[in-house]
Amino acid sequence: MERPLTKNIHPGRPPLNLKDYEMTGGYSALRKIMAGMSPKDVQQAVQDSNLKGRGGAGFNTGMKWSFVPMDEKGGPTKYLIANADEMEPGTFKDRLLLEGNPHQLIEGMIIAAYAIQANISYIFLRWAYKAAAKCLEESIHEAYHAGYLGENILGTGYRLEMYLHTGAGRYMCGEETALLNALEGKRAMPRAKPPFPQVSGLFGKPTIVNNVETLCCIPHIINNGAEWFKSLSYSEDGGTKLYGVSGKVNKPGAWELPMGVTMRELIEEYAGGMKNGYQLKGVLPGGASTDFLTVQHLDLKMDFKSVAAAGSRLGTGTMIVMDDATCPVGFVHNLQHFFAQESCGWCTPCREGLPWVEKLLLSLEKGTGTEEDIDLLQQHTQWLGPGNTFCALAPGAMEPLQSALKYFRDDFDRHVKEKKCPYHHNHH
Ligand code: NAI
Repeated sequence: MERPLTKNIHPGRPPLNLKDYEMTGGYSALRKIMAGMSPKDVQQAVQDSNLKGRGGAGFNTGMKWSFVPMDEKGGPTKYLIANADEMEPGTFKDRLLLEGNPHQLIEGMIIAAYAIQANISYIFLRWAYKAAAKCLEESIHEAYHAGYLGENILGTGYRLEMYLHTGAGRYMCGEETALLNALEGKRAMPRAKPPFPQVSGLFGKPTIVNNVETLCCIPHIINNGAEWFKSLSYSEDGGTKLYGVSGKVNKPGAWELPMGVTMRELIEEYAGGMKNGYQLKGVLPGGASTDFLTVQHLDLKMDFKSVAAAGSRLGTGTMIVMDDATCPVGFVHNLQHFFAQESCGWCTPCREGLPWVEKLLLSLEKGTGTEEDIDLLQQHTQWLGPGNTFCALAPGAMEPLQSALKYFRDDFDRHVKEKKCPYHHNHH
């Protein structure tokens, strides 16, 4: 089984420096494009590979790049941004790539920037990722020194600057348009789309924002070809995927596996199954802002289309397993507390609705909730749903809530009937 993104990463060991990276074939993809691939050729290879965005939305990466207006000569300033603001609860896959092999990301960024003919690039890094900040800083410096960044890259005349920008610790900054505002020095509030950043992004210029894992795939696609990339996958989406499992499993962790492995393989094989005494009750397949799946979905292939067909989303591919000793109402309350706290307050449904949802759930959990409160929660999943807000934060927050109401409705009702949390004795 091939693991192109992580085969040279050994957690616990220091990250690969420039020499280590070059010894594993690093920067050969950059040399290859500079020796004879046009920006359009690079775009085409990525489009053919069927790489879908790994930040969570699964948008076709090559198609996204193709929306950038390409002028033959002296076009407008363009930007390439690596979204490294990994803050989705339960998600820690990009951290592995950042701390393990920073040059892989940098090479992917240079190739992506070349493909859209951008001359300025940024890594927007999660504030809390201190170790990653240090190794990125050093690696960018090494890449400049080796002539992979700066003026006249590899003697071709192509120029690219790269800057590391650390966020201030808000979930909102990972939303691509809020990220752009933050980079411009404004409050991190989302912008309306359209216009999409590909046309009008940073400082109003064409901008591509790609996730870290997405960009790390690029050198491998260039080196080995689109067909090879597609052949890595068990599904129609190309490539491997960094999957993760957390919760009361024996071996929580993250693994690079063919796109489309089943949930059962992930939980039972890679995560070593549930801990003694615990049963699987629900699974959030890709971070907190995805719909619950349950035991009936264990044989589901974990690719974008299959998970969507089951009523959820692959999201970041890092699943959170909920066990049978955990109260679903308390669990969802905890998530809504996070989302309410992270709302940027720009649009009313999100700013006012999420704290209200949080209060209703808390009241149920304390045993003071009513059946009407449950109806009200159900209504909020519509009011805060897609189309009613500026960005995906509130609709994402509604996904675990609406699916908890669907699969675990009995648990909500029991809180009302018994006037207490029926799981309370299980709290450790
Ligand atoms: P989206 O589907 O609106 O956009 C995804 C990408 O495709 C964006 O770059 C967007 O510009 C582009 N795009 C979409 N439709 C387009 C169109 N018609 N024309 C041109 N470009 C288009 O999703 P969004 O709001 O960017 O991201 C939501 C996702 O983020 C969720 O799936 C969620 O799971 C994930 N997420 C990940 C986090 C993390 O830490 N990795 C944190 C929070 C959310």
